[in-house]
Amino acid sequence: MSTFGQRTGTASGKVILLGEHAVVYGVPALAVGIDRGARATSTPLAAGPSRLRVRGWEVEVTEEDASNDLGRAFAALLVAVRAHTHKIAPAQVLVEAETDLPPGGGLGCSAAIGVAVARAIVGDPSPEQLTAFVSAWEKVFHGNPSGVDAAVCARGGCVAFERREGMAHIEPVAVKGGLTLCVGNSGIASSTKSMVESVARLAERRPEVVRKAWEGIRALVRNARFAIEDGDRFSLGRLMDLNQMLLSGLFLSTPEIEAMCESARGASALGAKLTGAGGGGSVVALVNGLSGAERVLAAWRKEGFTGFATRVAVSGDVQLARAAGGST
Ligand code: MEV
Repeated sequence: MSTFGQRTGTASGKVILLGEHAVVYGVPALAVGIDRGARATSTPLAAGPSRLRVRGWEVEVTEEDASNDLGRAFAALLVAVRAHTHKIAPAQVLVEAETDLPPGGGLGCSAAIGVAVARAIVGDPSPEQLTAFVSAWEKVFHGNPSGVDAAVCARGGCVAFERREGMAHIEPVAVKGGLTLCVGNSGIASSTKSMVESVARLAERRPEVVRKAWEGIRALVRNARFAIEDGDRFSLGRLMDLNQMLLSGLFLSTPEIEAMCESARGASALGAKLTGAGGGGSVVALVNGLSGAERVLAAWRKEGFTGFATRVAVSGDVQLARAAGGST
């Protein structure tokens, strides 16, 4: 008989403000938790195998399901949990998860589910434990991720993340005056793994081009952090625009992303860029409060793109008000 009861875990989604891709190569990134995310509930089972069900996606896997990424990721997370010498979780569990983040949308959908699942299974893991459990999960989906998604989904708020010598360095960044963002869906799901691989191929063929892009992004991220701490949204927007130019130069943008950035700027956004892996996925626009958000969302709607407004959220602060995977 298990001594563990039913548990629930939540995690926020994330938006990278500046520094995606470069962060894989050791450049710092700035990212925020948003008020959409994932929730999971775990119930101890008397007998195995453990099962994971994602509501809304109508998917159920077991830890023995090696035929798909979700099953392998679940198994990897459980292996990492069980590697702990202290018994911190029931031997077998049924986990039911749900998310309102679009998969392949660049908003940390897999990391948010991973964090919520780990919290539901383990209860209150330490930050180090959570990192170990979720990085085992994320590696299945993304190969060798920087860890920025999991770090931000676990903590929320605004963070500066840097991977140095294989170690994650995470610093909370104080946001003066708050940030209102619009997140738009380009309508095309993208794979982080294949976009990261495409940059790696470019870095092999044209190392100088990629190295210069990383140098530029490093300078933009440094200045963006000052702008966030000073409440200088005008400068932050300009820096996001410049980051978008450098990402386009690495072939990470698409015509849809460019059109969305243009129309957001035309509708008074202070800056706009792709967020996450690119090649599809989402666009983030920095706007002036809720009235600015309405203008940008209306401009996107007119061009057939969906989106939503969000403010920086802490990790537990996820309402999941909307339908799984949907954006309004
Ligand atoms: C994906 O959200 C962010 C990337 O920088 C990949 C990573 O950091 O692992 C593209």
